[in-house]
Amino acid sequence: MKTAFITGITGQDGYYLSKLLLEKGYIVHGTIRRSSSINTSRIDDLISEFQPQEKLILHYSDLLDSASIFNLINYIQPDEIYNLAAQSHVSVSFQNPIFTTQTGTLGSLSILEAIRRSKKEIKFYQASSSEMFGGAAKVKLNEQSILDPKSPYAVSKVFAHHMTKVYRDSYSLFSTNGILFNHESPHRGETFVTRKITKAVGRIYHGLQKKLTLGNLNASRDWGFAGDYTEAMWMMLQQKSPDDFVIATGETHTVEEFAQHAFSYVGLDYKKYIQTDKKYFRPNEVDYLLGDYEKAQKLLGWRPKTTFLQLVEMMVESDLNNAKREEILFN
Ligand code: NAP
Ligand code: GDD
Repeated sequence: MKTAFITGITGQDGYYLSKLLLEKGYIVHGTIRRSSSINTSRIDDLISEFQPQEKLILHYSDLLDSASIFNLINYIQPDEIYNLAAQSHVSVSFQNPIFTTQTGTLGSLSILEAIRRSKKEIKFYQASSSEMFGGAAKVKLNEQSILDPKSPYAVSKVFAHHMTKVYRDSYSLFSTNGILFNHESPHRGETFVTRKITKAVGRIYHGLQKKLTLGNLNASRDWGFAGDYTEAMWMMLQQKSPDDFVIATGETHTVEEFAQHAFSYVGLDYKKYIQTDKKYFRPNEVDYLLGDYEKAQKLLGWRPKTTFLQLVEMMVESDLNNAKREEILFN
């Protein structure tokens, strides 16, 4: 029976990855941060099912507390570590650059150091990001493409990405980078653009909201489904040797297209509901992201299973249900 340690288990990917590993029979340890209100809502169903059997074990920690990271890795002795924890909102990274950078850089390095000092061979997954590419040119990006980060968040990811390679090459660690393009789901944080749109569609449809205010509608993203992408993370750690892989769909769509499909799913014309406001524009925008997942397909046998339209529909359906519940509760 394998043991996995996941940082950032309370996030979107933490939910899908821990669900997958628990279903595969892993013992899963995860870190949660102490906050004044409970922040485990995305994994509550997993907690109810797997915590009583001691298959899911949660620990208070923060990536910035390197002592706690060292102690946990020493205590858990995991076979695999998935480093998903990050201040992952690009726009917020301009407002909180130091926290974002410290978490993304020193946090990842603390884990790599703990693994290097461990007697056990521990496989490591680093959550790298397509944001690292900067998205200035309209080209398909792969593992060899030049990194040109445009935000504090992306710079911190570049640091951790290179450090993961440095530890692989210098100490023969099994450390991998998954360079994941945007991936979404009904568990996506509500301030990322896709979820912000689908939540608004649900609420507008149920009469709980009138307008949706967004920023740059022309930005283009390669959007996939988080459930498909977290499976790729696991596949990377089942290989004989460590490597870096781009995970994407090979299709790109603008924010406006996403909105158009989401509204038209419930028979509404998005143009009647969307307005823009400068406050949602970024100091430095990543205009265009499109990924080439050929290497992952060849070496991992991975390919995306969920289409763009299926993703939009899945998210709208879920947010229609959420809005219906809200309507019943508060009206
Ligand atoms: P998410 O939903 O924002 O989750 C981030 C997780 O990190 C949460 O559990 C959060 O805890 C935790 N966290 C934040 N700061 C921390 C700290 N200092 N110490 C410990 N934990 C901390 O992000 P996601 O979408 O699941 O993404 C997972 C990872 O993949 C992130 O590293 C992200 O940057 C990267 N990534 C995501 C995408 C994407 O499209 N989703 C694409 C490429 C890469 P709280 O719940 O307490 O806030
Ligand atoms: N969040 C947000 N809110 N974005 C908006 C809005 C809005 O109201 N209006 C337009 N956008 C545009 C942003 O300017 C950006 O170009 C695009 O929508 C996507 O924004 P997000 O959904 O916030 O995601 P992101 O692409 O910046 O970052 C996500 O993907 C990265 C991978 O490329 C995050 O998950 C990162 O953690 C991840 O690394």
